[in-house]
Amino acid sequence: MTTVPIIQTQALTKRYGKGAPPALDNLTLAVNQGEIFGYLGPNGAGKSTTIRILMDLIRSTSGSATVFGLDAQAAALDIRQRVGFMPGDMSLWSGYTGRELVSYFSKLRGGDYSARVRDLSNRLDLDLSKRVREYSTGNKRKLGLVLALMHEPELLILDEPTSGLDPLVQQTFNELMREQRAAGRTVFLSSHVLSEVQAICDRVAILRGGQLKAVETVEKLTHTDFRWVTVTFNAPVSPSLVAGVSGVDDATVNGNALRVRLSGDFDPLLRAASASYIVNIHVAEPTLEEIFLAYYDNSADRKPQPALNHNHAH
Ligand SMILES: Nc1ncnc2c1ncn2[C@@H]1O[C@H](COP(=O)(O)OP(=O)(O)O)[C@@H](O)[C@H]1O
Ligand SMILES: [Mg+2]
Repeated sequence: MTTVPIIQTQALTKRYGKGAPPALDNLTLAVNQGEIFGYLGPNGAGKSTTIRILMDLIRSTSGSATVFGLDAQAAALDIRQRVGFMPGDMSLWSGYTGRELVSYFSKLRGGDYSARVRDLSNRLDLDLSKRVREYSTGNKRKLGLVLALMHEPELLILDEPTSGLDPLVQQTFNELMREQRAAGRTVFLSSHVLSEVQAICDRVAILRGGQLKAVETVEKLTHTDFRWVTVTFNAPVSPSLVAGVSGVDDATVNGNALRVRLSGDFDPLLRAASASYIVNIHVAEPTLEEIFLAYYDNSADRKPQPALNHNHAH
């Protein structure tokens, strides 16, 4: 373990054009060796902007960034050698086949990675004979992964690698990332869907409107003490059944089903609910998005916002 962060940004700011609002606003962030770090935020948050600065594809307006302790601008070529980078948009290469790109980047990197490429494309079920423009979004991501992983770099920087991957491929992706971590390598990946990366990330940062809103371990966030509990009865119920019950918030009813946000022990809820005949109980962990919103927007009173309740009744 090195004490120098693998990625470090200091007050990094980017404005696309004079007087434009910052696409990235004073970002200070450190990523440590050996972690899988999720960089999360909705579209337009500034994720790709950050990654392009790290890879020196664009320049920041102010602030600084280092990768491996090296300045992202001054040492851009050295950094490139040691990073596996997957851009968010691969349309630049649309005229080439997967195999042509593999051989181009292999020559550039000066190695023979054919065994690793074969292994990766088998595991990802990717046909390298097609041109990039013929690939689906998911297949472009797979090709991007092969190109990023083939030289076994010590750091992966992946811009929305999981978008458009079907669930089976997502599993393979997760395995590949865990293998990186097991080998002591570092992964920095962006996503706008928290649930897609929740299973593999050690820590996550949330970016909104160019500003860093939170950095937390996934473990800490998922140990927040609320769950969504749906109790199904044999007849229609009223939310009043659980009114005032300890730990119960935000009760909604859909026919015979009562859904509540439960904090703490189950006993008070079960005692109240058992006044009616219970057919089924379903317990769901909150999504990371719900946890984040509860954690940061509502830390004062721990109540979910109305906007979180849109998916209750269906
Ligand atoms: N080349 C560009 N020129 C002008 N504005 C841009 C450019 N690239 C991104 N932006 C703007 O910067 C903001 C952040 O974009 P981006 O970094 O692509 O976000 P994300 O990757 O999180 O979706 C958005 O408002 C976007 O419209
Ligand atoms: Mg992006």
